[in-house]
Amino acid sequence: MRCFIAAWPDAPTRLALTALSDSVRQHVVHRRATRFEDLHLTLAFIGELADDDARAVARAAARIQLAAFDWQLDRLGLFARAGVVWAGAGDETGAPLLELGDHTRRLLDQMAIDFDRRPLAPHVTLLRGVTHFDAEAITPPILWRVDAVALYRSGGDRSGARYSRVAC
Ligand code: 2AM
Repeated sequence: MRCFIAAWPDAPTRLALTALSDSVRQHVVHRRATRFEDLHLTLAFIGELADDDARAVARAAARIQLAAFDWQLDRLGLFARAGVVWAGAGDETGAPLLELGDHTRRLLDQMAIDFDRRPLAPHVTLLRGVTHFDAEAITPPILWRVDAVALYRSGGDRSGARYSRVAC
Protein backbone atom coordinates (compact mmCIF):
# COMPACT_ATOMS: atom_id res chain seq x y z
CA MET A 1 0.00 0.00 0.00
CA ARG A 2 1.13 3.58 -0.71
CA CYS A 3 1.79 5.18 2.66
CA PHE A 4 2.68 8.45 4.34
CA ILE A 5 2.88 9.81 7.87
CA ALA A 6 0.61 12.77 8.35
CA ALA A 7 -1.47 14.88 10.71
CA TRP A 8 -5.19 15.31 10.16
CA PRO A 9 -6.91 18.53 11.26
CA ASP A 10 -9.43 18.64 14.06
CA ALA A 11 -13.00 19.60 13.15
CA PRO A 12 -12.71 23.41 13.54
CA THR A 13 -9.47 23.51 11.54
CA ARG A 14 -10.96 21.33 8.85
CA LEU A 15 -13.95 23.63 8.62
CA ALA A 16 -11.71 26.69 8.36
CA LEU A 17 -9.63 25.03 5.62
CA THR A 18 -12.76 23.98 3.76
CA ALA A 19 -14.17 27.51 3.87
CA LEU A 20 -10.83 28.81 2.62
CA SER A 21 -10.71 26.26 -0.19
CA ASP A 22 -14.31 27.01 -1.17
CA SER A 23 -13.53 30.69 -1.50
CA VAL A 24 -10.29 30.16 -3.45
CA ARG A 25 -11.81 27.71 -5.88
CA GLN A 26 -14.36 30.35 -6.91
CA HIS A 27 -11.68 32.39 -8.63
CA VAL A 28 -8.99 29.86 -9.55
CA VAL A 29 -9.19 27.54 -12.54
CA HIS A 30 -8.47 24.03 -11.26
CA ARG A 31 -9.08 20.40 -12.07
CA ARG A 32 -9.94 19.11 -8.60
CA ALA A 33 -10.31 20.31 -5.03
CA THR A 34 -9.24 18.18 -2.06
CA ARG A 35 -12.28 16.73 -0.36
CA PHE A 36 -13.17 17.95 3.11
CA GLU A 37 -12.18 14.68 4.77
CA ASP A 38 -8.89 14.38 2.89
CA LEU A 39 -7.30 17.68 3.97
CA HIS A 40 -4.03 16.88 5.77
CA LEU A 41 -0.40 17.72 6.45
CA THR A 42 2.20 15.19 5.29
CA LEU A 43 5.36 14.85 7.40
CA ALA A 44 7.04 11.98 5.56
CA PHE A 45 6.08 10.34 2.30
CA ILE A 46 7.04 6.66 2.31
CA GLY A 47 5.47 5.10 -0.77
CA GLU A 48 4.82 1.36 -1.05
CA LEU A 49 4.89 -0.63 2.19
CA ALA A 50 4.15 -4.31 2.75
CA ASP A 51 1.26 -4.97 5.17
CA ASP A 52 3.50 -6.08 8.08
CA ASP A 53 5.80 -3.09 7.72
CA ALA A 54 2.79 -0.78 7.50
CA ARG A 55 1.39 -2.13 10.76
CA ALA A 56 4.77 -1.69 12.47
CA VAL A 57 5.12 1.88 11.23
CA ALA A 58 1.52 2.65 12.24
CA ARG A 59 2.28 1.43 15.76
CA ALA A 60 5.50 3.46 15.94
CA ALA A 61 3.74 6.60 14.67
CA ALA A 62 0.95 6.19 17.22
CA ARG A 63 3.56 6.03 19.99
CA ILE A 64 5.23 9.33 19.08
CA GLN A 65 5.02 11.51 22.19
CA LEU A 66 4.03 14.90 20.96
CA ALA A 67 3.80 18.13 22.92
CA ALA A 68 0.85 19.78 21.15
CA PHE A 69 1.62 22.98 19.27
CA ASP A 70 -0.13 25.40 16.93
CA TRP A 71 0.85 25.55 13.28
CA GLN A 72 -0.08 28.94 11.86
CA LEU A 73 -1.26 28.91 8.25
CA ASP A 74 -1.07 32.42 6.84
CA ARG A 75 -0.24 31.96 3.16
CA LEU A 76 -1.70 30.48 -0.01
CA GLY A 77 0.79 29.60 -2.71
CA LEU A 78 1.34 27.54 -5.85
CA PHE A 79 3.70 24.62 -6.44
CA ALA A 80 3.93 25.46 -10.11
CA ARG A 81 5.42 22.18 -11.35
CA ALA A 82 2.89 20.07 -9.48
CA GLY A 83 0.02 22.45 -10.29
CA VAL A 84 -0.95 22.50 -6.61
CA VAL A 85 -2.44 25.40 -4.66
CA TRP A 86 -1.43 24.99 -1.01
CA ALA A 87 -2.10 26.56 2.35
CA GLY A 88 0.82 26.89 4.73
CA ALA A 89 3.16 29.23 6.51
CA GLY A 90 4.48 32.20 4.55
CA ASP A 91 7.82 33.28 5.92
CA GLU A 92 8.84 30.68 8.39
CA THR A 93 7.49 27.35 9.48
CA GLY A 94 7.59 27.19 13.27
CA ALA A 95 10.32 25.13 14.96
CA PRO A 96 7.95 22.59 16.59
CA LEU A 97 6.62 21.46 13.22
CA LEU A 98 10.10 21.14 11.72
CA GLU A 99 11.20 19.19 14.80
CA LEU A 100 8.21 16.89 14.43
CA GLY A 101 9.18 16.31 10.79
CA ASP A 102 12.77 15.49 11.84
CA HIS A 103 11.58 13.22 14.62
CA THR A 104 9.24 11.34 12.29
CA ARG A 105 11.97 10.85 9.71
CA ARG A 106 14.52 9.70 12.30
CA LEU A 107 12.02 7.12 13.48
CA LEU A 108 11.67 5.78 9.93
CA ASP A 109 15.45 5.64 9.61
CA GLN A 110 15.66 3.66 12.85
CA MET A 111 13.15 1.21 11.40
CA ALA A 112 15.08 1.06 8.09
CA ILE A 113 11.99 2.31 6.24
CA ASP A 114 12.88 4.43 3.22
CA PHE A 115 11.06 7.69 2.53
CA ASP A 116 11.26 10.75 0.31
CA ARG A 117 14.23 12.66 1.72
CA ARG A 118 13.51 15.99 0.14
CA PRO A 119 13.30 18.71 2.78
CA LEU A 120 9.90 18.98 4.40
CA ALA A 121 7.75 21.70 2.82
CA PRO A 122 4.76 21.71 5.18
CA HIS A 123 1.56 22.39 3.27
CA VAL A 124 -2.05 21.42 2.85
CA THR A 125 -3.01 20.72 -0.74
CA LEU A 126 -6.24 22.52 -1.56
CA LEU A 127 -6.49 22.46 -5.37
CA ARG A 128 -4.85 20.43 -8.10
CA GLY A 129 -4.51 21.04 -11.81
CA VAL A 130 -3.78 24.75 -11.43
CA THR A 131 -1.52 26.69 -13.80
CA HIS A 132 -2.03 30.27 -12.66
CA PHE A 133 -2.26 31.48 -9.10
CA ASP A 134 -0.93 34.56 -7.35
CA ALA A 135 0.10 34.00 -3.74
CA GLU A 136 -2.32 35.41 -1.16
CA ALA A 137 -2.34 35.99 2.58
CA ILE A 138 -4.76 33.97 4.69
CA THR A 139 -6.52 36.52 6.86
CA PRO A 140 -7.04 35.89 9.63
CA PRO A 141 -4.49 33.06 9.77
CA ILE A 142 -5.71 29.56 10.61
CA LEU A 143 -4.27 28.00 13.75
CA TRP A 144 -4.02 24.22 13.50
CA ARG A 145 -3.47 22.44 16.81
CA VAL A 146 -1.14 19.55 15.97
CA ASP A 147 -1.27 16.89 18.67
CA ALA A 148 -0.90 13.55 16.90
CA VAL A 149 0.42 11.92 13.77
CA ALA A 150 -0.46 8.60 12.19
CA LEU A 151 0.24 6.43 9.17
CA TYR A 152 -2.18 6.87 6.27
CA ARG A 153 -2.55 5.14 2.96
CA SER A 154 -3.79 6.23 -0.43
CA GLY A 155 -7.01 4.45 -1.19
CA GLY A 156 -10.01 5.41 0.79
CA ASP A 157 -13.10 3.80 2.14
CA ARG A 158 -16.62 3.50 0.84
CA SER A 159 -17.37 7.12 1.72
CA GLY A 160 -15.22 8.17 -1.25
CA ALA A 161 -12.35 9.53 0.84
CA ARG A 162 -9.00 9.28 -0.96
CA TYR A 163 -6.96 8.42 2.10
CA SER A 164 -7.47 6.25 5.14
CA ARG A 165 -5.66 5.64 8.40
CA VAL A 166 -3.67 2.42 8.69
CA ALA A 167 -4.76 0.43 11.73
CA CYS A 168 -2.05 -0.47 14.26
P1 2AM B 1 0.69 16.61 -2.18
O1 2AM B 1 -0.65 16.77 -1.57
O2 2AM B 1 1.47 17.88 -2.23
O3 2AM B 1 0.62 15.92 -3.53
C1 2AM B 1 -0.40 11.54 -0.17
O4 2AM B 1 -0.21 11.44 -1.54
C2 2AM B 1 0.43 12.62 0.43
O5 2AM B 1 1.82 12.41 0.17
C3 2AM B 1 0.14 14.02 -0.07
O6 2AM B 1 0.27 14.91 1.01
C4 2AM B 1 1.18 14.26 -1.11
O7 2AM B 1 1.54 15.62 -1.25
C5 2AM B 1 2.33 13.51 -0.53
N1 2AM B 1 3.17 12.97 -1.59
C6 2AM B 1 2.76 12.25 -2.64
N2 2AM B 1 3.83 11.87 -3.38
C7 2AM B 1 4.91 12.37 -2.76
C8 2AM B 1 6.31 12.32 -3.02
N3 2AM B 1 6.81 11.66 -4.05
N4 2AM B 1 7.11 12.98 -2.17
C9 2AM B 1 6.62 13.66 -1.12
N5 2AM B 1 5.33 13.73 -0.80
C10 2AM B 1 4.49 13.09 -1.62
